[in-house]
Amino acid sequence: MTQHDPRTVYLRDYTPPAYLVDEVRLTFRLAPHATRVLSEIRFRPNSEATHRDFFLHGEGLELISAHVDGEPVTPELVEGGLRLDAPDAPFTFAAEVEIDPENNTALEGLYRSNGMYCTQCEAEGFRKITYYPDRPDVMASFHVRIESDAPVLLSNGNPGERGEGFAEWSDPWPKPAYLFALVAGDLVAHSDSFTTMSGREVALNLWVREADIDKCAFGMEALKKSMKWDEEVYGREYDLDVFNIVAVDDFNMGAMENKGLNIFNSSAVLASPETATDADFERIEAIIAHEYFHNWTGNRVTCRDWFQLCLKEGLTVFRDQQFTGDMRSHAVKRIDDAMLLRAAQFREDNGPLAHPVRPESFVEINNFYTVTVYEKGAEIVGMLKRLVGEEGYRKALDLYFERHDGQAVTIEDWLKVFEEATGRDLSQFARWYTQAGTPRVHVAEDWSDGRCTLTLRQETPPTPGQPEKQPVVIPVAVGLLNPNGDEVVPTQVLELTEEEQSFAFDGLAARPVPSILRGFSAPVILRQVQTDETRAFLLAHDTDPFNKWEAGRDLARAGLLAMIQDGDGPDAGYIDALGRAVADESLDPAFRARLLALPGEDELAQAIFEAGQAPDPTAIFEAREALRQAIADRLGDVLSRLYDTHQVTGPYSPKAADAGRRALTNAALSLLSLSEGGDRARVQYRTADNMTQQIAALGVLVKLGEGEAELKAFEDQWRHERLVMNKWFGLQVGAARPEAAVGIAEALTRHPDFDWKNPNRFRAVFGALAGNTAGFHEPSGAGYKLLADWLLKLDPLNPQTTARMTQAFSTWKRYDESRKRLIRAELERIFETEGLSRDTSEMVGRMLA
Ligand code: ARG
Ligand code: ZN
Repeated sequence: MTQHDPRTVYLRDYTPPAYLVDEVRLTFRLAPHATRVLSEIRFRPNSEATHRDFFLHGEGLELISAHVDGEPVTPELVEGGLRLDAPDAPFTFAAEVEIDPENNTALEGLYRSNGMYCTQCEAEGFRKITYYPDRPDVMASFHVRIESDAPVLLSNGNPGERGEGFAEWSDPWPKPAYLFALVAGDLVAHSDSFTTMSGREVALNLWVREADIDKCAFGMEALKKSMKWDEEVYGREYDLDVFNIVAVDDFNMGAMENKGLNIFNSSAVLASPETATDADFERIEAIIAHEYFHNWTGNRVTCRDWFQLCLKEGLTVFRDQQFTGDMRSHAVKRIDDAMLLRAAQFREDNGPLAHPVRPESFVEINNFYTVTVYEKGAEIVGMLKRLVGEEGYRKALDLYFERHDGQAVTIEDWLKVFEEATGRDLSQFARWYTQAGTPRVHVAEDWSDGRCTLTLRQETPPTPGQPEKQPVVIPVAVGLLNPNGDEVVPTQVLELTEEEQSFAFDGLAARPVPSILRGFSAPVILRQVQTDETRAFLLAHDTDPFNKWEAGRDLARAGLLAMIQDGDGPDAGYIDALGRAVADESLDPAFRARLLALPGEDELAQAIFEAGQAPDPTAIFEAREALRQAIADRLGDVLSRLYDTHQVTGPYSPKAADAGRRALTNAALSLLSLSEGGDRARVQYRTADNMTQQIAALGVLVKLGEGEAELKAFEDQWRHERLVMNKWFGLQVGAARPEAAVGIAEALTRHPDFDWKNPNRFRAVFGALAGNTAGFHEPSGAGYKLLADWLLKLDPLNPQTTARMTQAFSTWKRYDESRKRLIRAELERIFETEGLSRDTSEMVGRMLA
């Protein structure tokens, strides 16, 4: 049905802009319901254009007046913008428009959040501010004057004149309109400074509401570390006199890299030990880095069109992953990234929403800010680096910045710098960008006369619109272990380019145990017939930390599938191997905490579906619970010892070493509670002096069904901290038993603090419901109906967040007839709703197709 949506935009239809812009002058007269925006835009004909049609995007604007070179004109107002007979020579277009920020609930363009003015322009929000060629290949320098009596007035670039009721800003670096930003409000700054590698002093400010000033220190440190890291690792220096970050409560996504003025969802920047968990601190560090890194990968070098989104996002995610690895642990970061990729991206790739990392068409580009574009996009950069090596990668990146600084470019330009810098032909590799779906790599092993042969075969299942798949270039990192556990062949990267290929290792004294796809060297699903003994061996001996973890994961998955599909009991062999690994004091506690995490319900559901059966979410839930109970019963002593001996003493610090210990003791606590009851957790709750310990204990108690008093106490303690209350809302739904989750979610929507127009609060409840797989898929279909009702309520106000949340339904085709019927009915009810947003209609249409 979406195939023929008349609003579809195609990559193949790209044409260069008819006019380019040299300079933009904007004046904002801010008023909640009637903000006036005056623009003066200097256009010049583009010599590369194929036509001279002058079109400016504009949406929801009231045009007050328009001038060309000072003469009044009457543009033709058309769907999505305006047209004008424009001179075939340079000219200045001026306009005055009126907009209504107060009623802008979509949180795109200029809007109000808690009384402050702020903007979100990526991808196509600038057209809701004024008439403009709102496309990333039009780059211009911006000069902004803000008139308002708000005490703090900010825009991009360097500060200019300011006085009573106004402030001016100038951004010398040409940029597309999606990087424009403006903030005005009653804010205070946590300030610092940074001296760049060439000795320039940069003023740093994190702007927040007064009540949040105690939650800025960590974000500021993360910013300084990011600035330093980008200089050291990529040779990239910051390029303005000031770098501002603003925290905003109402925000659709995580954060935004506007030039010199990053705007953050407050949940992605504010943290104090009392209010934020270790996971929050790590996420904040990564997002600050991500947005800062965009200054070069995204802003200085930007995208020609929105189909190239992965050019900036894949690369910038890869850079933030490297950064987190350097700041913390590479092994643990790789495991976390692989877990996310499997849980979210493989899920996307295996369902109706699958799309290439560089999509070929879209109806609403905001629907393509996906795990595929971001995380699989980052995996592609990682593979490139693995293939060309450290040095080749650095050479290619240097060339990329040197050649394309100030330009809006494409994936072809990106691959070309790698080809030129390294002499490698990347034409086959480029398929990673155009072909959707997760490749499966099947491994066959052969042994004779001291030779071990690995035969690898790749296959990618069909995805919507792409029935046939070509082989891709897959770097498969492999090492071989001797039966005694020593490594005989250290890691080397095999390049699988054909559909099937064999690789031989000669001169071996004994049949080795191969360790394949080390470091998760490619975003593929490995299909390997392995005995449990081999998996236990690798869990004990693999020198590659990722595959060591993976072996434990494979064992757990196999055991769980046998429990679900064959009615087996918990696998004692797995539990004993796990017990030995988690008790190994030579291993990093953070790593051991990851060993204790079982494969998720959604991952198991997909595995069962691929084995040809309809997954039963309740059975999957019960099997995981039974395995957890068995681990608790069998490893009680080990877990109890881990809990006692790895407690962090002394004042809270978010540093990785302490966070790792807390992750391990809290994983142990959660299991121990199944055999011991809630006493330990109650003590931890009472004595906790930080949010990590407090919420972990609360989660354990709620899961046990013993958290009533603590939930109440928590609410009393934190009712005035919005970010903490999001956790309170989410935890109750996420930790609920399957049969109770929907009722709890429903009850929470009636809580006076359920401010559903705030995306964080909406997501706290409904994101948690969608994440409680067995609860959401509870057989009556009440979960489906509740979510659909609320999506329909939110859609008219905030299409972006609504569309994103529809993904809860994306796995519907895996389930039994009854669930399928129930979900389809809800999807159809949404799809047929009159006035449904373009965003939501595209998503639901793709799921129904
Ligand atoms: N470029 C931002 C980031 O990845 C994401 C903002 C996207 N927002 C949106 N509404 N599409 O850092
Ligand atoms: Zn980004």
